Amino acid sequence: MLKEIENRRSIRNYKNDNIDKKIIFDILNAGIKAPSAKNNQPWRFLIVNNDIKNKISDKMIEIYGPNKTAEVIKTVPYLILVYNKDNEYFNHLSIGAAIENILLEAENIGLGTLWIGYIKKIEDYVKELVNIDYELVSAIAIGVKNENPLERPRLTLDEVLLNED
Ligand SMILES: Cc1cc2nc3c(=O)[nH]c(=O)nc-3n(C[C@H](O)[C@H](O)[C@H](O)COP(=O)(O)O)c2cc1C
Repeated sequence: MLKEIENRRSIRNYKNDNIDKKIIFDILNAGIKAPSAKNNQPWRFLIVNNDIKNKISDKMIEIYGPNKTAEVIKTVPYLILVYNKDNEYFNHLSIGAAIENILLEAENIGLGTLWIGYIKKIEDYVKELVNIDYELVSAIAIGVKNENPLERPRLTLDEVLLNED
């Protein structure tokens, strides 16, 4: 198995270290290599600045109380908002593939990531903030890891394989 698949973890503690934006572009370039239905490449990305990051985090805390996801958004150096450009049938599957490519390439480069679906809950607020009309699908935090979590539990192949023999 690819070592990036084996070793990737959701990272919820980041160092303060900044990262060259070029590295972020390299990582996003792995995202756009993902397969997509009819090759329609429905993903769009927005790298947000600190001010927006802080506002998103504060809004999450305001609505849901202090939580780890909001803390990650505040402290991580890069937050990428991931959008869906239109409502074609398979777009969410294609965008999921792009996000996974991004997580794995970041792992390959030695950086940590967190896939943040929870941002969907404040989609309307984010829309006001960044003035982008596409559907917000998720966000991805990218930064220098400040923790090395153990592998989270997974069902075994036996448990998920529906074959009877
Ligand atoms: C669609 C999706 C949405 C997620 N949203 C969040 C989130 O909002 N906050 C968070 O802390 N983790 C989020 N995660 C990370 C999962 O909690 C994590 O992948 C899972 O617990 C397994 O841990 P691992 O990634 O370390 O293997 C999300 C993962 C996926 C695939």
